[in-house]
Amino acid sequence: MTINNNDAGIIVKSPGRINLIGEHIDYNGGHVLPAAIDRKVILEFHKNDNGQCHVRSVDEGDFAFDIQNPLQISDTHWENYVLGVVDGIQKARPNQLGGFDCVISSELPIGAGISSSAALECGVAKGLNELFDLGLSNLELIEISRMAEHNFVGTKCGVMDQFAVTMGKRKKLLLLNCETLDYKLIDAEFAPYKILLLNTNVSHNLATSEYNTRREECEQALAVIQKDHPQYPFLADVPESVIETYKEKLFGKIYQRALFVSRENARTLKAAELIQSGDIKGFGELMYQTHEGLSKNYEVSCPELDFLVDLSKDIPQVVGSRMMGGGFGGCTINLVKETFINEFMELASKTYKEQFDINLTSILVATSNGVETTKSV
Ligand code: GLA
Repeated sequence: MTINNNDAGIIVKSPGRINLIGEHIDYNGGHVLPAAIDRKVILEFHKNDNGQCHVRSVDEGDFAFDIQNPLQISDTHWENYVLGVVDGIQKARPNQLGGFDCVISSELPIGAGISSSAALECGVAKGLNELFDLGLSNLELIEISRMAEHNFVGTKCGVMDQFAVTMGKRKKLLLLNCETLDYKLIDAEFAPYKILLLNTNVSHNLATSEYNTRREECEQALAVIQKDHPQYPFLADVPESVIETYKEKLFGKIYQRALFVSRENARTLKAAELIQSGDIKGFGELMYQTHEGLSKNYEVSCPELDFLVDLSKDIPQVVGSRMMGGGFGGCTINLVKETFINEFMELASKTYKEQFDINLTSILVATSNGVETTKSV
């Protein structure tokens, strides 16, 4: 593939995301606390005049499609992140896209729960918006990216990842209300602790199907509760004391899911207060509670994640640890005393290797701005 360098193009840097707390509650109308991070997907776009769209991923290979033809879901998984966004833009701004060339490289590991997928979707959305001067707002780009995941990729995700990737700010966390999309920026200040991700390097293939099942289970719980309490539009709005009155009416695991969602929403609001008041240890306790809930009530953890969280409990220099993102593999997020980071990484890698015979990788992250663009020549 050749890039037509006569035209000014667009370079996009689109970050991954972390989530401090508030897991699996975005699609339940709850509060989440994510941030964009300093690891990115980098995309370069140029227009061409042949009506063809050529997309090359340095790691995954290339593909092409004709912008005039209706788009189909591809058998090659990663292509759907791009195709889904192009399809969404075509629907939002009919006949305004032309042919383009796009080259993609990434610093984000895939399947690690740090949203390489949202980084790609939002990067494509932002890049095409600028290249073709479409005037789509950030909220429209977020929605197009989220729906690409629903319609082309097949994960019925919430809004957290695309929102954080697009709206993130350096040194800030976003306390996002997923029901209203109102958000507040909170200082990402954890001194003397740093945020360290430990990547299990496993990605169990249950991730997509079980994710969609959890969403359905939550919808079932809400439908039962709403018969008596129509005042609650989302499951995360239902107080724990009300959920508890449904112990008999909701089937065992559906009840457990609902309980987790209500508790996790309350925990997230509490966590935001603790972080703002500098009580990092108190916040760390909530991270452990979240992990317990995700593992036991929501059942989206796996032995590798549980092992790493358990290991950290015996180490006083780690004040909080939990699985992060959709689950069934990926990373744990840990708050580790800065002076102990190297020692902790060594210890965790050694014991993890002994237990599972898998190499652990670690990522020390800093928060960053959301997706940014510059002109290229
Ligand atoms: C994935 C989804 C998000 C969110 C998290 C779990 O990352 O894309 O919408 O539901 O899982 O919190």
